[in-house]
Amino acid sequence: MHDVSDLTAPHAPIGVFDSGLGGLSVLRAVRAQLPGESIVYVADSLYAPYGERDDAFIAERTLAIGQWLVTQGAKMLVVACNTATAQSIAMVRERLSIPLIGVEPGIKPAASQSKSRVAGVLATQVTLRSARFQSLLERYAADCRFICQPGHGLVQAIERCDVGSAELRALLRSYLQPMLDAGADTLVLGCTHYPFLDAAIRDIVGERMALIDTSVAIARQVERVLDQNGLRAASGASVDLPRFYSTSDGAHLQQLAATLLHLDAAVERVVIPSPSTAAPDSEAA
Ligand code: DGL
Repeated sequence: MHDVSDLTAPHAPIGVFDSGLGGLSVLRAVRAQLPGESIVYVADSLYAPYGERDDAFIAERTLAIGQWLVTQGAKMLVVACNTATAQSIAMVRERLSIPLIGVEPGIKPAASQSKSRVAGVLATQVTLRSARFQSLLERYAADCRFICQPGHGLVQAIERCDVGSAELRALLRSYLQPMLDAGADTLVLGCTHYPFLDAAIRDIVGERMALIDTSVAIARQVERVLDQNGLRAASGASVDLPRFYSTSDGAHLQQLAATLLHLDAAVERVVIPSPSTAAPDSEAA
C-alpha cells in the first residue's frame, strides 16, 4: 500500500498508456531522454483499436487506466495515444491528481517545415474528426494544405506485429500515393503506432517526404514537466526495466518490445474494468 507522499515521490515511475503497442514509440523516446526514470506501461490491447470506438468508450478507458496507474504509484501520466488525447485529455486532466501529458499530431512542425506547402496526415478516424485536431488544423493550415487520411487497418496490423507484409505495404501505398501525387513533401505520423512503419513508408516514399514523429518532442515535454513539479528521479539511481502490462495476453507487446526496442521484459496481464466493460474479461459492448 502506498501512502500519498509515495505517489508523487521522484523515485516513483512514470505511467505510459496507449490503446495498444503504439505507445512503445513514446516509451522508447522517454527512455532515451530520461534514462534514470522508471516506467510502467499499459497497453489496452483487448480494446484496441480505439480509432474504431465511440468517444464515450475511449474516455472511460483512458480515465480507468489513468486511475489504475495512480494506484500503481505513477507520479505522472503520459497518454501516449493521439486518439485518447483527442477525445479525453481535458476530462482526464480534471479527474487525476498527477501531472498529465498528451500527444497530438505534428501539424505545427509540418507547417513550418514543408517547402511544397502540401503535407499529408495519417491518423485514426477519431483523431481526425475530433474538435481538438480540427482546431489544430485551423491554427496552422492557413498557408499549408493538409491532406488528412484515416489509417484504417494500420493499427490492427501493428497490433499483430505486422510492420512489413505485402498486404500492409499495399494498404500504405493506397494512402500515400495520392499524397505524393498532390505534391506533399511532409508526412505527419499522427498515431503513435505509425513510427513502427517508418521502414515500410520509406520504401514507398523514398526521400520525397519528411516524416514527422513527435515522440522526441513528447519526451522533452515529459522532462520539462517533471522538472517543473520537482519529480525528476535522482541521477545515478538504478533503474529497472519498464514494467509492462496488457489487458490482452501480452504476447505481441512482448514481441514488439523485444524486436523493435530490444527490451526483454515480461508482460503481465491485467484487468482494468470501466463502466461498459462490466464483465472484466469480456470484449467491450
Ligand atoms: N496509438 C493510438 C494513437 O496514437 C492508436 C489508436 C487506436 O487504437 O486506434 O492514436
